[in-house]
Amino acid sequence: MTKLMKNRLNLFQNYKCPKTRYQGSKYKLREWIRHSLEKLEFKTAIDAFSGTSSIAYTLKEMGKEVYCNDKLSFNCEVAKALIENVSEQITDEEYSFIIGQHTNYNYSSFIQDTFHDIYYTDEENSWLDTVVQNINQVKNEYKKAILFWALYQSCISKRPYNLFHRKNLYVRTSDVKRNFGNKTTWDKPFEEHFYKFIQEINSAVFDNGKRNKAFCGDIIDLKIEADLIYIDPPYIPKTGTLTLYREFYHFLDGLTDYPNWKSKIDYDSKHKRLIPEYSIWEDKKNIYTGFEQLIEKFKKSIIVISYRDDGIPTVSEICEMLRFHGKKVHIETVDYKYVLSKKENLQEVLIIGE
Ligand SMILES: C[S@@+](CC[C@H](N)C(=O)[O-])C[C@H]1O[C@@H](n2cnc3c(N)ncnc32)[C@H](O)[C@@H]1O
Repeated sequence: MTKLMKNRLNLFQNYKCPKTRYQGSKYKLREWIRHSLEKLEFKTAIDAFSGTSSIAYTLKEMGKEVYCNDKLSFNCEVAKALIENVSEQITDEEYSFIIGQHTNYNYSSFIQDTFHDIYYTDEENSWLDTVVQNINQVKNEYKKAILFWALYQSCISKRPYNLFHRKNLYVRTSDVKRNFGNKTTWDKPFEEHFYKFIQEINSAVFDNGKRNKAFCGDIIDLKIEADLIYIDPPYIPKTGTLTLYREFYHFLDGLTDYPNWKSKIDYDSKHKRLIPEYSIWEDKKNIYTGFEQLIEKFKKSIIVISYRDDGIPTVSEICEMLRFHGKKVHIETVDYKYVLSKKENLQEVLIIGE
């Protein structure tokens, strides 16, 4: 019996939240957050900026009906695979179909033609072209989402810093001394990564008996209500650099919309990013309005905000906005250092408005 088939037998028994490699992911904080959420009374919850879905997954484990939302389309596929999906997994046969070239299909070489010498080798780009086009032939939306999840994780694992912010394939391939990253992981064939991640996500699938749902769009446009909303927005630090999600992960969003990727690229950029879009959550002057609009929109729900103690607005300014809308506010804190962050002595904060 293959490992993948054994995993199928374990369905719903030993499911396990997959590890994440994403800026601002709350994966390592999820037990701390769960502890706070357990003290609140609610049946339905929105994860408003769901990213890797690590907190949505925790909410799903808690037996809540979960609605995920993220503006980036690849994160919506992630939510579909992990949160909305209750039973679909990938078999060895399906894996073999996805990694092979099929004679009855006329493959495009878009990634190979567009991203030469930027993120991956020519051979790897060609593998990506094949696999993404095979994934797009899969009819079942949950199987498709799982395959995309495994593809994203494979792509991220092979990237220095796990990002797509620079044309820097040379960091991987040049013969220099490095004091970071893992060349063995970068050089491991896509196929091996992909197989390993399919196994990982197969063992993450479970049913909590609720009708969970993934949405894709700006949170301010979401037309769903819930007893509780969990808010983990891109945060603006008082000093230091912003995490620009669309800019850092554009390649994964491109993969998600392969047929239209060509028309969305900023061809003036060296690293062929997507054409930039304005975001209020990356705008120091207007982020206050972003928070005010969001709190106003969801004022009927319990509001739980993940934050850090060096953000704009400050923790006390956010508490003030919540009180203005009649919320009883309390905060919980924990010392925490994010991977790759140079900042010491920062506190992770949970602001809770009931
Ligand atoms: C700090 S991350 C969330 C991390 C997530 N809680 C996790 O554990 O992985 C912020 C997320 O907000 C998303 N985002 C940015 N602007 C948004 C908007 N206007 N509406 C919805 N999501 C947005 C980004 O794509 C990013 O995934």
